[in-house]
Amino acid sequence: MKKIQQYKFVLIFLICVVFIFYSYEPDFEYLETIGELLSIVAGEPINASFPITFYQSAYVDYRFDPPRLRIFTLNKCLKNNQFLLADLYFDGNNSAPLRKNIYGKPMEKTCPSPYIPASPCVYSPSIFSIGLRTNEDLKKVTIHLGSRKVELNVQKIHKKTTEGLTVCVLPVHYFSQWQNIVLYIEAWRAQGATRFIIYFHSATKETWRTLEYYRDLGIVDIKSWPSFPGLPSDIADKYPRIDDSAYIFSYFLAINICILDIKTTIGTVADFDEVMVPTNGRLLDYATKEMKGTNVGALSFENHYVSLTPRIYTSNFSGVESPKFWIFRRPPKYVFNASVLAIAQVHVPDTFIDSSMRNEYADGGLLHFRFNVEAENHTTTEKPFRFFPDDHSTHIKNMHDTSQKIFNGAVPKFSSKYYDTLQKCIKKITPVQDKVCLSTGGVCKAEMDKVNDWVYDKSEPIFLVAT
Ligand SMILES: *[C@@H]1O[C@H](CO)[C@@H](O)[C@H](O)[C@H]1NC(C)=O
Ligand SMILES: *[C@@H]1O[C@H](CO)[C@@H](O)[C@H](O)[C@H]1NC(C)=O
Ligand SMILES: *[C@@H]1O[C@H](CO)[C@@H](O)[C@H](O)[C@H]1NC(C)=O
Ligand SMILES: *[C@@H]1O[C@H](CO)[C@@H](O)[C@H](O)[C@H]1NC(C)=O
Ligand SMILES: *[C@@H]1O[C@H](CO)[C@@H](O)[C@H](O)[C@H]1NC(C)=O
Repeated sequence: MKKIQQYKFVLIFLICVVFIFYSYEPDFEYLETIGELLSIVAGEPINASFPITFYQSAYVDYRFDPPRLRIFTLNKCLKNNQFLLADLYFDGNNSAPLRKNIYGKPMEKTCPSPYIPASPCVYSPSIFSIGLRTNEDLKKVTIHLGSRKVELNVQKIHKKTTEGLTVCVLPVHYFSQWQNIVLYIEAWRAQGATRFIIYFHSATKETWRTLEYYRDLGIVDIKSWPSFPGLPSDIADKYPRIDDSAYIFSYFLAINICILDIKTTIGTVADFDEVMVPTNGRLLDYATKEMKGTNVGALSFENHYVSLTPRIYTSNFSGVESPKFWIFRRPPKYVFNASVLAIAQVHVPDTFIDSSMRNEYADGGLLHFRFNVEAENHTTTEKPFRFFPDDHSTHIKNMHDTSQKIFNGAVPKFSSKYYDTLQKCIKKITPVQDKVCLSTGGVCKAEMDKVNDWVYDKSEPIFLVAT
């Protein structure tokens, strides 16, 4: 009887704590707080037998109050009671580091992915996180997985104060359409973009040269996104290679890390064939006007497939003047207030730091100049959207001159061979039937290496496994 009384007390105490946390914290925090509470009750430390790889940096995100330590990983699906055993090293503290149990959750909310092509994949992206005290100056995180450990450096993230627009580009894999990049960067710049963060895995030499050109102008940051590392040797034969069993959704990692790296007030994530434009004026002005001082945390742009005649691959950029719009339903993309987006999905914002924030449809469109859209055979329609907010002929001439400059007057002839080879390789795999994961990295490497001498990322240790 006495025992029951004691447990009852613990239970009531826990309920109270949950209630207190719930009434203070926005929804997003609530789940994590439960996770933290569970750590008091029960839990299982993740050890070296668990397949997981870590992004090299842990982030202290001061956009949250209190600040949150956030650790990005790619791993087998987690159980609710599994946690990382971490030592937090603070500045000005010669005593022992602070030991914490840090719980994680999948970026996609459910694991394995409910999306059919991704569901056979073993690895999915997760965020482990825990609240810190405001005055603590974290310097280093060491994660203990049984006898093995991983050390992460620490980056600090604050509210974004520089006026401007930063564009994040998902990891570039086997990319060959350098013309897209010229149109992309020039159009986004004209719409107000001040910086591009591009995660790079592999591309043709022409594509690399184009990226280098813009990097040297100081507007593009090229960030390493190497192939994922092998697992530690004692578990390597128990699981598929990470690189072979992570769906494109491993991109969620890059998106969410990129949001933290943004320093401007507004951000967006768009592929090299996507430009978001308002019906009137410049995107940066439009988005600032719609979001500043409001509870609109993101603006979604409806997806419109466009084709350009003549094609930018076989001619100059004159087709950009009058894009043709195709009726073809695809999900939207969005621009966001970079101070408030907590977790991003590819097509919609997932959660905001301040739960009163919401996503709204924009008066504008996403111009999606998808390769071979003409082959889809759908009907065309009229839309008022254009790539540039001002005189197109100046920009078309500028893109022409820029291409000449990049290639010293010898603009290479375009070949669709590389694009076609990748598509053919991907189509050969029928994920569910084969119980194979349709991954971007490893699966097509051998096929791709047969047709080109690719520029690969130099594989700095960006993703870490326990040693
Ligand atoms: C590692 O964790 C697994 C599952 O969580 C457990 O079954 C195993 O006993 C643990 N190994 C060691 C050495 O603690
Ligand atoms: C120093 O570390 C101890 C735990 O080992 C912790 O209780 C204390 O708050 C830390 N002090 C500072 C200034 O971070
Ligand atoms: C972004 O959100 C912050 C915090 O709510 C707000 O102060 C700021 O005005 C917003 N900025 C823009 C550009 O929407
Ligand atoms: C661009 O290409 C089109 C069609 O191929 C051609 O009519 C036009 O003269 C070209 N413009 C320039 C500036 O080369
Ligand atoms: C496209 O569709 C139209 C009618 O829907 C059809 O007549 C035509 O043959 C199709 N073209 C191709 C290339 O499939």
